[in-house]
Amino acid sequence: MKLFLDTADLVIIQKYAAWGLVDGVTTNPSLIAKEGMDLEKRVKEIASIIHGPISAEVLSTEAKDMIEEGRRYAKWASNICIKCPMTPNGLLAAQTLSKEGIAVNVTLVFSAAQALLAAKAGAAFVSPFVGRVDDAGQDGMELISEIIEIYKNYQFKTEIIVASIRSPRQVALSAIMGAHVCTIPPDIYGKLFRHPLTDQGIKKFLDDWSKAKKK
Ligand code: G3P
Repeated sequence: MKLFLDTADLVIIQKYAAWGLVDGVTTNPSLIAKEGMDLEKRVKEIASIIHGPISAEVLSTEAKDMIEEGRRYAKWASNICIKCPMTPNGLLAAQTLSKEGIAVNVTLVFSAAQALLAAKAGAAFVSPFVGRVDDAGQDGMELISEIIEIYKNYQFKTEIIVASIRSPRQVALSAIMGAHVCTIPPDIYGKLFRHPLTDQGIKKFLDDWSKAKKK
């Protein structure tokens, strides 16, 4: 399973990329706005660090404008993936851009039926938001299992990006289920490395070693 970072924070992206386990980055208008940065500048900066897919979201609502935006973004770097919202216009744009060989990530997906439509539109990626599904009182990971089953039934090539992640356990469950990608906020990504028993174990090994050397 590929691990993407769900952030537009360049310092964080540089730090985590140095650990060698970041396969891509997803951004959205809220994340770019949080950085107070121009979208094009920031996406180009990210693409210079990470060579896997970098998702940048269109801001238009009409299909024709989304297509123009998507074509423009796709010229910024060879690894740009165009995020289109899960609307009729978003799926029209997804179909056109995908036919032109531009990778599309259909975002804001909250149901298996929406994921079916995204795959039929030829999207390279679909992004179901599991945390927000949980927040709405439904089961986000159950949604992932349904989408995996549908895509297997019909051999869709669309890759599932489990998004809106709230815990390391959701990352592990995504891998157990066989999702293709998890896009993870930096705080949760950092927690994937940690376990209290690992910290205790390191401390004990080092303490034992220094005691033995003193003898
Ligand atoms: O990738 C989608 C993600 O940014 C949404 O996460 O935490 O705002 O639901 P969240």
